[in-house]
Amino acid sequence: MRKRSADSVEIVPSDITPFEKYLSRRAVLAGGIGLAAVQSIGGFARSAYGQSTGALAYTRNAELSVTEPANSYQDITTYNNFYEFGTDKSDPSEHAQKFRTQPWNVTIGGEAEVTGTFSLEDILKPHPLQERIYRLRCVEAWSMVVPWVGFPLGDLLMRFKPTSKAKFVEFKTLYDPKQMPGQRSSVLEWPYVEGLRIDEAMHPLTLVAVGLYGKTLPNQNGAPLRLIIPWKYGFKGIKSIVSIKFVERAPRTTWAGAGANEYGFFANVNPSVDHPRWSQATERHIGASAFGPRRPTLPFNGYAAQVAGLYTGMDLRKFF
Ligand code: MTE
Repeated sequence: MRKRSADSVEIVPSDITPFEKYLSRRAVLAGGIGLAAVQSIGGFARSAYGQSTGALAYTRNAELSVTEPANSYQDITTYNNFYEFGTDKSDPSEHAQKFRTQPWNVTIGGEAEVTGTFSLEDILKPHPLQERIYRLRCVEAWSMVVPWVGFPLGDLLMRFKPTSKAKFVEFKTLYDPKQMPGQRSSVLEWPYVEGLRIDEAMHPLTLVAVGLYGKTLPNQNGAPLRLIIPWKYGFKGIKSIVSIKFVERAPRTTWAGAGANEYGFFANVNPSVDHPRWSQATERHIGASAFGPRRPTLPFNGYAAQVAGLYTGMDLRKFF
């Protein structure tokens, strides 16, 4: 049922629930309100989980989008990794619904001329939003295709005028065990920390995502703002960011703390470098039949033409 081309596997339409259909189906299940009614609540639609997700104004960036159909809204918002809300895939959608993302501040620090604490509005306001359909490849060897809405991280970082000492950027998620039950366990070191080399952070593909399927991010996907680095394993895409710091040395990341031999700093998708406990050569596409063929994993998750040059001369087995 699937058409395989050189660099992609297309999903047949029956595998996909478009967002509108999903919403209207939920509305019908909830008691017969039609889609129009759902959308007319002050320009806001109510997600399946009771939180309000606002409609966003954006333009579609077709040039930087993959042509494969996106996974369903349901897959993208119910099969999640967000250990602050639990370690099962269903935990974030079940336990993040009351998470407060307003007011929200982001602290900018380190090697930059402009530092301080900024409101979410200050952070987002100057940046026109784009929709980009990206592949997401998780280190656990599954994948999805997600229509993110966001803007280039580089555009945000340039506003703070990083100095020549800014060789890396460190990001942190909110630490609030009262709201994030997973932080009451020591399954990971908290707060969640991630990092990028400055040129990776500045790369035009690196996105600050604030929405998906045209609406603000559901909490379980990292509201109100998270990173997407499409050529890296999904764990680099840190959620619910409260701190951005320009630093001279590579920050120690949470996943490196959990197992430095399993989760490298670069975490570039690489079919020929296996995770110590499983192969990275293929992946299971979420939404496809569990009995269907696994698809081959592509170097840099299919973005090699755009990003391989960032790593010229590096031994990617050593710097995995
Ligand atoms: N960010 C935080 N703060 N906590 C997490 O547990 N999980 C990561 C990443 N960002 C994680 C996180 C992992 S392992 C993946 S695969 C992606 O988020 C999943 O993003 P999604 O749930 O939106 O698909």
